[in-house]
Amino acid sequence: MKPETKIISINAREVLDSRGNPTVEVEVSTPSAVGRASVPSGASTGTYEAVELRDGDKERFHGKGVTRAVSNVARIIGPGLKGFDCSDVRSIDRKMIRIDGTANKGKLGANAILGVSMAAARAFARSTDRTLLSVLRPAATYSLPVPMMNVINGGEHADNGLAIQEFVIEPVGARSCSEGIRMGSEVYHSLKKVLASKYGKGATNVGDEGGFAPPMTRTREALDALRRAARESGYGEEEVRFGIDAAASTFMNRRTRKYVVDGRSLSSSKLEDYYASLQNEFALLTLEDPFGEEEFDAFASITKRLGKETKIIGDDIYVTNLSRMRKGIAEESSNGILVKLNQIGTVSETEDAIRLGQRSGWVVAVSHRSGETEDPFIAHLATAFGSEFIKAGAPARGERVEKYNELLRIEEGLGSKARYAGVALR
Ligand code: PGA
Ligand code: ZN
Repeated sequence: MKPETKIISINAREVLDSRGNPTVEVEVSTPSAVGRASVPSGASTGTYEAVELRDGDKERFHGKGVTRAVSNVARIIGPGLKGFDCSDVRSIDRKMIRIDGTANKGKLGANAILGVSMAAARAFARSTDRTLLSVLRPAATYSLPVPMMNVINGGEHADNGLAIQEFVIEPVGARSCSEGIRMGSEVYHSLKKVLASKYGKGATNVGDEGGFAPPMTRTREALDALRRAARESGYGEEEVRFGIDAAASTFMNRRTRKYVVDGRSLSSSKLEDYYASLQNEFALLTLEDPFGEEEFDAFASITKRLGKETKIIGDDIYVTNLSRMRKGIAEESSNGILVKLNQIGTVSETEDAIRLGQRSGWVVAVSHRSGETEDPFIAHLATAFGSEFIKAGAPARGERVEKYNELLRIEEGLGSKARYAGVALR
């Protein structure tokens, strides 16, 4: 008998994320199963992201409550989607976009809409006893992503003096995703020793994404520590590569358009020179958000200069938004994109962003947010569409490792059919 996959009810609640802030959890029920999902939240959010609806009521959670989003799910979205089939998440997404009626999902809240979209996909998987991966993209050849592990935190994710937000390690030389995860964990623990011996034990306290937040002030200091840690784990440059997410909007002065980094105030062309010198010294494989979120020209200039060796990845500049991506494609502003479900607010639009990036020859990195939950949805999303990378934080803290652990389960489930994206990046 064919399982019943039509929506009979939708429930939502306020739960806590990894920073202890409230976020939305949704349950979509069919006659045969319940699909549950929860929504992440960023700190260095792009201006053009879909709207995360917060109550603003200072009496609760310092204004960060999400009861309005929760009630929008229960009172508006739930009744509106009754009878919709979970096998067709695209129609569900379209219907919610129509009910919301705004360009940025500001009425119902992208946190409300995304929770339903993710939970509906999962409800279909549960109802039909299939993996989430195969529901997101049926009958494909699946490739597991290279973990992009953020092991030193700076910027808005830590209280040290580093302007650059993230320093990541990328085990491209692994033979499989599971081996890559192991290599990443080994380097992470070597890094802990390197930092403790140089800066003392307090240097190994962790930031929001599980990376260490040592009292450093210079970009080179952080990259040096990564290189030492990789070497001490026995890995050379072909095996473990490095990347940074500058999140440069957070240290750009909007009036002067200069960037305050490493004790200097740099124009965008001087900052480009600086990145080029870092690239030369550390062979950076990825460079994310090197300039502010409006700086398409500066992005294009660095892509032209470094794009052969380095993937220039746009996060805040594109915010997983197709029209901003199209501008970037036309202007050759980058050769990669970071994709985040909650920047755009539905599963099907996220899929469209991944596909557009891939059609344009860009590398794709599916990403978590700095405020996460234990939901490992992105592990399935990345593998389903074969993104080159998954950015899910350090191999530490439950909400981060759950993504990596889910990849381990996925790889085991796929058996000999599992491929690894690192092979193409070496
Ligand atoms: P966010 O950081 O989740 O705080 O935006 C992640 C990133 O910038 O990639
Ligand atoms: Zn970023």
